[in-house]
Amino acid sequence: MTPSDHPATLVLGGGLMGLAVAHQLARRGENVQVISRRRSEAAGFVAAGMLAPHAEGLSGPLLQLGQLSLGRVSSWVAQIEADSGLPCGLRTTGIVVPFRSEDERDQYPTAAFGEPLNRAQLLQELPGLAPSWTAGLLFAQDGQIDNRRQLMRALESACVDRGVHFQEGVEVLDLLRDQNSRLKGVRTCDSEGHETSLMCSTAVLCSGAWSGQLLPELPVFPVKGQMLSLQTPRGALRRVIFGPGTYLVPREDGLVVVGATSERDAGFSEGLTPQGQTTLKQGIAALLPEAIHWPPMERWWGFRPCTPDEGPLLGACAIQGLWLACGHHRNGVLMASATSELIADLASGGTPRSDLAALLPSFSWDRWL
Ligand code: GLY
Repeated sequence: MTPSDHPATLVLGGGLMGLAVAHQLARRGENVQVISRRRSEAAGFVAAGMLAPHAEGLSGPLLQLGQLSLGRVSSWVAQIEADSGLPCGLRTTGIVVPFRSEDERDQYPTAAFGEPLNRAQLLQELPGLAPSWTAGLLFAQDGQIDNRRQLMRALESACVDRGVHFQEGVEVLDLLRDQNSRLKGVRTCDSEGHETSLMCSTAVLCSGAWSGQLLPELPVFPVKGQMLSLQTPRGALRRVIFGPGTYLVPREDGLVVVGATSERDAGFSEGLTPQGQTTLKQGIAALLPEAIHWPPMERWWGFRPCTPDEGPLLGACAIQGLWLACGHHRNGVLMASATSELIADLASGGTPRSDLAALLPSFSWDRWL
């Protein structure tokens, strides 16, 4: 049987997680259809692309998942680049976290994984850093990927190359289930308002911050982030700076991505706000005063898919045949490699690798019940 003879597995959501899962499913020989309402609103186009389990100070199972994912990134990217013929913009630039004292540094949750820096060493890594930062941690193993300009395009092209079908501009209105809570299909609506039922027995929910709208028992809510990019003299910043509330991510071509506000009360309110932009400006000035003079290039916003413990929802749920890959909050780009491997294994009837499978209970949808 060729993939197109298999009943389709539906991927609900065409953002980074949806594309990554679709690609891995297709690589396992599945017939895959991605249904997406408006790809431009996906967090994958918004995030800064940091691969930063250590710099973000994760702990517990989130740190474990982040580390497992970081360890898989280069082979995952190699698969995408081989299938698409396009670069993903992966860079192991290392990330520096500055602190106001050595005590603060030594108490950071992931301090044991970093190289401690004093003020002189910090300045070597980050020339121009404001004087209030007197200590730091260098996480040389953390990095970044150019998700906005390279990864998303390469993933989509890799999916197309592997035979994934796309329905863009189509909203999933409902999940259809039988009396035994088995998935039967989805009811969709296209941009002209035509409603259709698509039958399927397997689907993966990758709808980001909107995941709770399809399955209200999932406690996923949006945390808005506003961002901007700056044009720098080439080589002005070598490492990512991850300060409290603000980070600067230097791309290869001299663009620096600056993030991000974290607005829990904003809901799905769209657009930039003067307060958000002021917060970013103050954050830049507090870290790297000279960067205030670098010309801004673009400004944008998006919605992180958050959960009460800020961990993702992975694996099975109350509807048999529906798999979850959502709720990655600040770490979707980092966790896409491990998530897509794990969920594609589960949804295709395979056996996931034991290191990832062991984390499933920590990220199960009913952990708050
Ligand atoms: N991971 C960075 C952010 O969500 O802003």
